[in-house]
Amino acid sequence: MSVKLKTKEEIGYMREAGRILKACHTEIEKKLAPGVTTKEIDEFVETFLAKKGATPEQKGYRGYPYATCASVNDIVCHGFPNEKLLQSGDVVTIDMVVNKDGWLADSAWTYPIGKIDSKTNRFLRRTEKAMFTGIAEAVSGNTVGDIGNAIERTVKMWRYGIVKPLVGHGIGQLMHEQPDVFPYGQKGTGIKLVEGMVITVEPVLTMGRTGAVYWEDDGWTVRSADGSIGAQYEHTVAITRDGPVLLTS
Ligand code: MF3
Ligand code: CO
Repeated sequence: MSVKLKTKEEIGYMREAGRILKACHTEIEKKLAPGVTTKEIDEFVETFLAKKGATPEQKGYRGYPYATCASVNDIVCHGFPNEKLLQSGDVVTIDMVVNKDGWLADSAWTYPIGKIDSKTNRFLRRTEKAMFTGIAEAVSGNTVGDIGNAIERTVKMWRYGIVKPLVGHGIGQLMHEQPDVFPYGQKGTGIKLVEGMVITVEPVLTMGRTGAVYWEDDGWTVRSADGSIGAQYEHTVAITRDGPVLLTS
């Protein structure tokens, strides 16, 4: 499949999906606390989106059973929401894709529960920063390699692990379009970025150095091999004449 460029109008539709998604994340952040379950958050998301005339695109995607991915601690992504009570000191990544009138937006965020230790907190702030160093390279004339290289160089400095099998992607009326947006790479390599592309930048990092992961038998849940905590921050970004524009912020 080739890259599908979007018109200004189409980017406007995606921005509307992104606006709803951001509003949903804001509510989730307020709700998350010790004693809350990720299943409750997932149900809240379904209700919230329905009220906005939107739908959770992940539900039913390749058989994925929930509206959100909810990944606690060493689950680095694609965790199933469940009935376990969140505890102070946990971190949870909530990832979701919103469909509004056929146009999509995708954003994940890692939240601390209660009080987390300062090393973990620094890891979360740095993972977010790594995403933004990638986004800064999402300008017309650059390549996907420039985004990946910026992320990789930043993360290496901190000696965290990059989970390499998990990559960003083009997005539009489909969740996953071309190009792949790797969280690592060489400057100036890969697909060229042009105005009208909409992509996600979504590095998944582990606190441990290797970034090695394994899939559980459910076919979805991804855990760090070394048991270290994972984090992921993701925005949907349009490449425009005026530079990168966040559609999920
Ligand atoms: N939101 C995820 C992404 O960034 C998709 C997770 S897979 C799903 O690509 F099945 F849960 F949708
Ligand atoms: Co994504």
